[in-house]
Amino acid sequence: MSSLTLASKVKLSSGGQTMWNFSLKLTINRYLGHFIPVLALGVYQNYDTKPSVLEAFKAGYRHVDSAQMYKNEAAVGEAFRESGLDRGEVFITSKCASRHHGYESTLKGVDESLQRFGFDYIDLFLIHDPLSGKEKRLDTYKALQEKKAAAKIRTFGSAVKHLEEIRDAGFEMPSVNQIELHPFCQQRPIVEYCQKNNIVVEAYCPIVRGKLDDEVITSIASKYKRDPAQIALRWSLQKGFVPLPKSATPSRIHSNAQLYDFELDSEDMARLDALDRGKDGAVSWNPVNAD
Ligand SMILES: NC(=O)c1ccc[n+]([C@@H]2O[C@H](COP(=O)([O-])OP(=O)(O)OC[C@H]3O[C@@H](n4cnc5c(N)ncnc54)[C@H](OP(=O)(O)O)[C@@H]3O)[C@@H](O)[C@H]2O)c1
Repeated sequence: MSSLTLASKVKLSSGGQTMWNFSLKLTINRYLGHFIPVLALGVYQNYDTKPSVLEAFKAGYRHVDSAQMYKNEAAVGEAFRESGLDRGEVFITSKCASRHHGYESTLKGVDESLQRFGFDYIDLFLIHDPLSGKEKRLDTYKALQEKKAAAKIRTFGSAVKHLEEIRDAGFEMPSVNQIELHPFCQQRPIVEYCQKNNIVVEAYCPIVRGKLDDEVITSIASKYKRDPAQIALRWSLQKGFVPLPKSATPSRIHSNAQLYDFELDSEDMARLDALDRGKDGAVSWNPVNAD
């Protein structure tokens, strides 16, 4: 089932008005049989991660986006254990950056991540970036397939566009692609490819690293009596993406999840769609075009 199918499935009619029945725990049921909660707490540059993850669990998040490079896998694991939640209730991601790519180093890297988290498995393990070149990328992917077969990771993905390279090498296609994605950088060809191929699209920098003072966004925020971040996140959900907003601020961790009692109408979605500036709209490294 694609993310687009998910979006239409949860659209309900109520008294002549269309309402979206999203919830924090609503999951995308992937063809691989796993579930991905539709909103995650991103923990990049969160230097006191445990309290933020605990706050997020309290607010209802069940998905945390970490990475080896963020150096907070241990803190995420500690927060999980302190939360009292069952392991099956939460969905945790990690990623290996290009300097650790390669077959042996990826196998070792996954084991080290498992140890740091204190988990028996990791729900999603991504190739963090494509900057190691084709040969190493494919060696990395091969290692991740083996870890999946050994039930050490539950699903895996590529954080970039190199999906056809994986397919052409005869590997199983990834189930998730994580890319920079927000109204100013909409990555339309990649999104279209993923949606056609049943690949969940995760949106990083979904609140544009807080740079949301655009007139269109602020005017829509006033209209719906929401803050600009909620408008950007709601746009992401209505597009069928899985946004990963980062906040280390308890009040924002909560407000960034209060997205389910309003709906952007088609005119406002179109105004946000029209903000796309392609790669010039990116605010992070956005390495989708690496060789
Ligand atoms: N795969 C990749 O290469 C990659 C790259 C970048 C990011 N990511 C993932 O995506 C996540 C999100 O991306 P990101 O952290 O770069 O950017 P982001 O989530 O778009 O923005 C985070 C920034 O916005 C601020 N913020 C949070 N809530 C806000 C609100 N309601 N109003 C105004 N500002 C707000 C945060 O400050 P406070 O913390 O002070 O609240 C922080 O400075 C990361 O944490 C990471 O998990 C992945």
